[in-house]
Amino acid sequence: MRTIAIVPAAGSGKRLGLKVKKPFVPLGGKPLVSHAIRAFESTKEIDGIIIAAEPVLTGRFRVLVKRCGFRKVIAVVAGGRTRFESVGKCLAKVPASAEVVLIHDGARPFPEKRLISGAVKAARRYGACVTAVPETDTVKLVDTKGLFVRKTLDRRVIYRAQTPQAFSFTLLKKAYAKAAKAATDDSSLVEALGKKVKVLEGSCRNIKVTTREDLRIARALL
Ligand code: CTP
Ligand code: MG
Repeated sequence: MRTIAIVPAAGSGKRLGLKVKKPFVPLGGKPLVSHAIRAFESTKEIDGIIIAAEPVLTGRFRVLVKRCGFRKVIAVVAGGRTRFESVGKCLAKVPASAEVVLIHDGARPFPEKRLISGAVKAARRYGACVTAVPETDTVKLVDTKGLFVRKTLDRRVIYRAQTPQAFSFTLLKKAYAKAAKAATDDSSLVEALGKKVKVLEGSCRNIKVTTREDLRIARALL
C-alpha cells in the first residue's frame, strides 16, 4: 500500500440544509459521496481508501461500500467535530507502508483522473501538491466586518484551493502533529512548516457541494 486516499465525508451539511445527510443526497441516482470514492476505485495509482463518516453513519457507509462493490476501502472511521479532526483520525489508520497520502473532500463528486494522478506524481516529486484554480473575479480584501474595501488584490496571483491535495506521508504526519489550529485545508498545515507546496491547475468542474445551488450545478454537470 504505497498510495492512500483519505476521503473526509463527515460533518453536518448545515449549509446544504437537507433532511437527507449530505453524503447520501442523490446525485445521478447514486449517493453524492459514492462519486468521489468511485473515482479513486478506478484510478490505478490509488491502493487504498480511508473514509471519515459521521459517527452515527459509519454503518450506512459500510453498507454503501459493500453495495457499490468498492474493493479498495480499508477503513471507515468515525469523523470528528471539524474536517481537521476527521482527517487526523483517518491519518491514524494509514498503513506504515504508505509513501503518499492524497486527501479529497467527499463533497466533491467530480475529481478528474488527471488531477488525482497529477497530484500523486507531484507529491512524489515535490513533497506536497495542491490543486487550485486561477481566480476569475477581481478579489477585494475587506475589513473584518465586511463593510468596506481595504484593498484590491492582484488577481494574477490568486488561486482558489480545491482537493485533491497530496503529500508525502511523513510530511503530512508532521504537519498534523505540529498544527497550531484547525485548518479547512491540508496544504496550509504543510505551508506552516515552511515547506513548498506545488500548485497543480485544478478544474472548474471539480466543485464542492456546499449549498443547494451547488447541488443544482452538480446535477447539471453530470
Ligand atoms: N468534513 C469532515 N468532518 C467534519 C466536517 C467536514 O469530514 N467534521 C468533510 C465534509 O464531509 C466535506 C469536507 O470536509 O467533504 C468539506 O466540508 P464542508 O463542505 O464544510 O461540509 P460540512 O461541514 O458537512 O457542511 P457545513 O459546513 O455546511 O455544515
Ligand atoms: Mg463544514
